[in-house]
Amino acid sequence: MDDKVIQLQSLTKRFPVGNGYFTALTDINLELQKGEFAGLVGPSGSGKTTLLNIIGSLDVPSEGTATVLGNSIAQLSQKQAAHLRNHHIGFIFQTYNLLPVYTVYENVEFALLLQNMSANDRRKSVMQALEWVGLTDKEKSKPSMLSGGECQRVAIARSMVKKPQIVLADEPTANLDSKNSHHILQTMQTLNEELGVTFVFSTHDEKVMQYLKRKISLADGRVVKDETVMADSV
Ligand SMILES: Nc1ncnc2c1ncn2[C@@H]1O[C@H](COP(=O)(O)OP(=O)(O)OP(=O)(O)O)[C@@H](O)[C@H]1O
Ligand SMILES: [Mg+2]
Repeated sequence: MDDKVIQLQSLTKRFPVGNGYFTALTDINLELQKGEFAGLVGPSGSGKTTLLNIIGSLDVPSEGTATVLGNSIAQLSQKQAAHLRNHHIGFIFQTYNLLPVYTVYENVEFALLLQNMSANDRRKSVMQALEWVGLTDKEKSKPSMLSGGECQRVAIARSMVKKPQIVLADEPTANLDSKNSHHILQTMQTLNEELGVTFVFSTHDEKVMQYLKRKISLADGRVVKDETVMADSV
């Protein structure tokens, strides 16, 4: 495989609605290389989450193809899709999706339980991920004891702990203040640069846009602009 981690060709997505269909994505053609730090930007309803879900093998295209790390998404069995997600793709959902009865440590460790890893190695990986997001001192806290920004950082640690090749982040800073947003974005940028992880964001947030190296604009389910940002303005 070359350095193309995501390839979308003539991708269209339709959802059944009533007796007909709603077309959420139309004729999307995109390629992302390993190590990109890219964002899908566009108004509400433009198709950002739909596209992230397909890249993350949570959904399939109606037409065209999505190839992720060499796998054609529509052709994967449920088991193969789950394997791809569990091992190679990290998700950061807008709503964090933390498990409230578990500690910070356990929430992050959860992403590793499906991997064949000794308890010792798991502990090392979890502590490293908590260090990346600056939360080693909160390992025993439950999510209810954390601030919103801290919860978001746990979600980032959980998405990164298995060192996935791709991280998909759907509006990762939607509910954060400016200081937390910048802290998180800097953490992601470091992980992107040091581990070569490919990041794909969906965002409306100007703060996130300052960090993007590539900005892909969607409108009504189509790519209307695809810009490479040359100089880092931060
Ligand atoms: N399961 C579904 N069934 C029918 N329509 C859907 C479904 N999922 C999404 N859509 C429609 O597809 C369009 C794109 O939705 P999507 O969630 O991808 O937008 P978005 O760009 O992520 O918006 P936001 O910025 O508000 O999160 C919307 O018009 C939405 O109503
Ligand atoms: Mg969305």
